[in-house]
Parts: sequence; C-alpha cells; structure tokens
Amino acid sequence: MIEENTDALQRTMDSLARQVEAIFDSDQHLWLQRRQRYQTFCETSSGILLDWSHQWVDDDILDDLCDIAEQRRVIQKLHEQCNGALVNYTEQRRVLHTALRGTNAGLEEATKREIKTNFEAMVAFANDVRNEKLKGFWRDPFESILHIGIGGSHLGQALLQEALGEGALPIHFLSNVDDETATSILQTLNPRSTLIFVASKSMRTAETLRNFELVEAWFTSATKNPHAFKHHCVCLTSNQTAALQFGNHHFPIPDYVGGRFSIWSAMALPILVAHGIDTFRDFLEGAREADHDALHQPPRQNLSLLLALFAFFNIELRYVSSHVIASYIPQMRQLVPYLQQLELESNGKPANLDNESTSSTTVALWGGEETNGQHAWHQFLHQGTSIVSVDLLATTEGMAQPNNRWNIANCLAQRHLFFHGHSDESEERTINGHHGCNLLILDRVNTKTLGKLLATYEHKVAFLGFLWGINSYDQFGVEQGKILAEMYDQELVGKTTGSLLESDLHLIDKIRQQAID
Ligand code: F6P
Repeated sequence: MIEENTDALQRTMDSLARQVEAIFDSDQHLWLQRRQRYQTFCETSSGILLDWSHQWVDDDILDDLCDIAEQRRVIQKLHEQCNGALVNYTEQRRVLHTALRGTNAGLEEATKREIKTNFEAMVAFANDVRNEKLKGFWRDPFESILHIGIGGSHLGQALLQEALGEGALPIHFLSNVDDETATSILQTLNPRSTLIFVASKSMRTAETLRNFELVEAWFTSATKNPHAFKHHCVCLTSNQTAALQFGNHHFPIPDYVGGRFSIWSAMALPILVAHGIDTFRDFLEGAREADHDALHQPPRQNLSLLLALFAFFNIELRYVSSHVIASYIPQMRQLVPYLQQLELESNGKPANLDNESTSSTTVALWGGEETNGQHAWHQFLHQGTSIVSVDLLATTEGMAQPNNRWNIANCLAQRHLFFHGHSDESEERTINGHHGCNLLILDRVNTKTLGKLLATYEHKVAFLGFLWGINSYDQFGVEQGKILAEMYDQELVGKTTGSLLESDLHLIDKIRQQAID
C-alpha cells in the first residue's frame, strides 16, 4: 500500500542525517548568524505567528524535509481525506471532521445536507434554551449545565469553556469516576433548572455510564419524580438506539467524525448554549482557515506541515525523548490534555498501512501551564540529560498590561535557554540547550484563533501520520484495558472470573484485606 519510492526517501533521510551531524560539528554560533534565520524563519497566518528560528534546521535541511513531504504526497493525502477517502481503513470509516466546519468542496451533496441539518438543529436547540423557550420539566428556565463525558467527549468542551470564561449558563463537567467531585458539583445544582448533557460517541464508555447513573439517582431522589429526568437530558452520540434510552433530546455524531475530532460537531452543543451561536461560528471559521492553509499553502508557509516536519525531524533525526507544550496563555490550561489525546491517540501506533511493524517512533507529549512549569519541570529541561522538542505558546493580547507582558518575557527567555543554553565555567551551572523550539504567538485569544490553533494541530497530526505511513484515526490500543478493567472490578468484589494471573489474585487478596470502607 505504501507506493512511494523508498530508495529516494532513504537517500533524503541519509542526507539529512549527514547535515544534522555537520550542524553540531560546526561552529554553531557562525552557523546561526550566517543563515539570517531570525528574519526568514517565521510565518504569520491570520492571527497566528509561527517562528521556527529555534529549530536545529537550516534552509538545506528544510528543503530536504519539504522533499520528504512531497515524496510522501502528504498534502494530496490531506485533500483525499477531506474529500471523503476511506482513510481510516481499519475501521472502514471516512475522516470528515473538516466538513463540519465547511471544508467540503469535494463531498457529495447528501453528506453536506446531513451536516447542515445537524447544525441547524443544534442552533435551534441552543437558541431555544437561551431564549427560555425550552424549559425544564417544571417549566423552570435552565440555569446551569451539567456535562457528562470523557476523552474526546470532554476535553474539547472543557478547553473551550475555560478559554471563553463565564457564559450565559455555567457548565460543570463530570468526566472521571470520582464520587467526591460528583457530590461537590451536584450539591451546588438545582435539578429543576439543570440541563444535562450526556456526551459519548459510543454510549458504551464505562465512566460516562456510571456518572450518568449517579446523576440520574441524584436527580430522581432530589425531585422525587422518576419521569422528569429524560426531559432534562440531551444525548450527544452516534449510538441512536442508546440515545432514546438516555434522554428526550438527541443530537447525532456522524460516524465519520472521530471522538478526538468531535468538538466541531454536536459535541460542542453545551458551548453553543452557554456562549451563543456566533461564538461557535467564529470557532468553525478559524478552523476553516486552518484547513485552507493546510490544503493550499506551499510547504514553507504551511503552519501545520511545518509543525509536522519539525516533529518528524526532531523524532527521527534528533531522537528527542518527548515533546513539551509550554503554554504562556493563561486561558489555555486545558490545552495539554487536549493535545495529548489528539497527538498520542492518533499517532501512537504499532503498524504501518501494510499492517507491518512501523519503523516510526512515538514520543510522549507533556507540559502545562506557564510560568508554573518554570518553577517545577524546567530544571529537567535545562539541565537534565534528555533532548526534547518544545512548542511555546503565547499571546500578544493585553501586552500593555505588565502581567501579560511578563508571560511573553518569560516565554522568550525560556526559548532562548532551551535553544542556545548557557555556558559557565562550572558544569553545575551550565545549560546545554539544543532543544528545538517552535514559538506560536496568537494575536488574541478568542474562539476564532482557538479554532485555528486546534485545527492547525489536527493537520499537523494528519501530516505526521502520512509521513510515517500509519493510520492516525483508529485507537485499538485503548480497548483491551477496558475489557480487563471489568474483570478486575469483578475480582475486587470477590467474584471469580477465572481469567486473571495468580500474581494478580494474590494482590487483589491483599487489596481486599487492606480496604477500609
Ligand atoms: O478510550 C478512548 C476513547 O474511546 C476515546 O477515543 C474517546 O474520545 C473516549 O474514549 C470517549 O469515548 P466515547 O465518546 O465513546 O464515550
């Protein structure tokens, strides 16, 4: 299935390996000056500036990387994906989250119509709740939202909610199975005025089903009315049969929208209700711009492709041990968990498209909110012995405020050290640097730039998957753990499944003995 000329690819990889060696053998200071990289190695695209001057690449290396992208036909493959090719071939599914934001030029009318109808239904529902036309069972207007869901049915909503701040209705999230969090959230809510979203593409996710049962019990016990619950429940799912059992309102998630790509679908309905339709339209517009750039910009102006090429370079040629996201944008605390699912669930794969063991390497993605990270894990980045790659994110919005400016100052200072390091007579005070960095600066933090940023990362992931020749759209690795957890759960309550190892059974005995109610 991999149709590229592997000899040509190998030659380019060999050439790249030689160039990387030469860079680190040469006088780096001269190399960095000579290339005038600081003027030319950056690109701005509708509100997002990407500066890659602190990657260990020069023009020749970048040319070779673009050559690989050409040989692997990655932009053509993205076109095919957006036009409805069966890219997720292991699950026999198309990958069309891009169509939800209007990138649909090559699609058949039926799919476009379905998307339009679904969108109109979302808009009507959100407006009805916001205008108090749609009320609860007792005719109380809805005053708060409870959102139940996990993974791709939670992370995008949580990220948007935090970035947007308070909306017309507060949103409370239940994702993990955690009685204390559930109790503390539920005790603040009035069931008569709470709108409950149960979000699960499959409607088979154990955590979501358990939380749903817990919320149903709370609702029914507080209202003493077993019939009212369904009137307050909105089900966001692909599983139509299950939807009917869960609530009176159902919004479908088409099977061509993967869970981690579903924030563009009805999964965003709580956000529409809380923040209004226009906000969501802006979000889609930002993403549509990113789609356009990824599909039509030449490689050196294509932010998603550049991010993918630097990731490929850092992983395959510089052997980084992980990729770090350092976010100096305070409203984006949830970005790291979101990107972890997006990147790791997509590209943490063992097989290539010929179902043979892949030669690509998967590295971890981690990081967090800055400047908190500087006071915690930056010591490891500056003086630990691992080489990583880093994406630093900042915004110029509010730069006149000293506190906002402080974030940018720190972001630039850290980037300098990550790349250049710091020499000192004493080894203990020396900082090696050498981490390759991308700097992404948003001109403002709003739904449009957020849409653009998330979609830019989505296409980075797609391009990287095409470069590696893997299927970025299935996730079989997560299934086995779900089956095993059910067995362990049985054993923990003393029911024998006959399926666990002796060593596990001993441990379970100990756990049962130690357990205090
Ligand atoms: O277990 C992983 C996963 O299947 C993700 O891919 C998905 O986003 C999440 O669980 C939640 O799944 P669902 O939306 O079906 O509840």
